[in-house]
Amino acid sequence: MDKMESMEQWRKNLETQATLSPYQEKRLVFGDGSLRPQIMLIGEAPGGEEEKQGRPFVGKAGKNLTEFLTAIALQRKDLYISNVVKFRPTKESPKTGKPINRPPSKEEIAFFLPFLQEEIRLVNPKWIVTLGNVPLKAVTGENISIGDCHGTPRPLAENRRLFPLYHPAAVIYNRSLKETYHADLQKLKAHIAHT
Ligand code: URA
Repeated sequence: MDKMESMEQWRKNLETQATLSPYQEKRLVFGDGSLRPQIMLIGEAPGGEEEKQGRPFVGKAGKNLTEFLTAIALQRKDLYISNVVKFRPTKESPKTGKPINRPPSKEEIAFFLPFLQEEIRLVNPKWIVTLGNVPLKAVTGENISIGDCHGTPRPLAENRRLFPLYHPAAVIYNRSLKETYHADLQKLKAHIAHT
C-alpha cells in the first residue's frame, strides 16, 4: 500500500470511530499538505473558518501561518499541517447563544491521540513543530509547558525532532511574546536548513 492509500485508510478509520463516539455530530477537519514534508505542523484544534472550509489554518490562524512560512522561507505546500483535535470544540456564547471556540477537553484530546500518533508515523516528517501546549503535551506525552521549552529542539522517537513554538494566538494576546516568537522562528529556520 502506498502512502496515500495508507492515509486514506487512516482517515476512513477515524471517520468510522468518530461516528461511534460522543463526537458523531462534529464535522472533522483533516490535515493537509505534502505527504513527504520536512516539517509537520501541529496545532490545537480547528476554529470556525476551518470547520466551514474543512481545512486547517485557513481562518485568522491562516494569516499567522503565512507569517510563519515567510519567516522560515517555506510554502504551505512544503508542509503537512494538522491539529491534535480534528473538530472545532465549541460552547454556547452566553451573549449570542451561538457556538464559540473553547479549548479542547482532556477527553477530546485522549480520543484523538492514537490517531495523531498514527498520522505522524504515516506522514513521517523529520521535524514536528507544535504550536502551544496542547500539541506539545500530546506529542511528547509529558506534562511540560511551552514557556519552559519553546525554541529548543528535542529528540523524538524514530529519529524525529520536535521544535516547540508558542501558539500564534498567544502572541496576539500577549504582545511581549512577539519578539520571542520571532526569535524562535529564526532558530527553526537555521535548524531546518541544516537537516
Ligand atoms: N486553526 C487551526 O486549524 N488550528 C489551530 O490551532 C488554530 C487555528
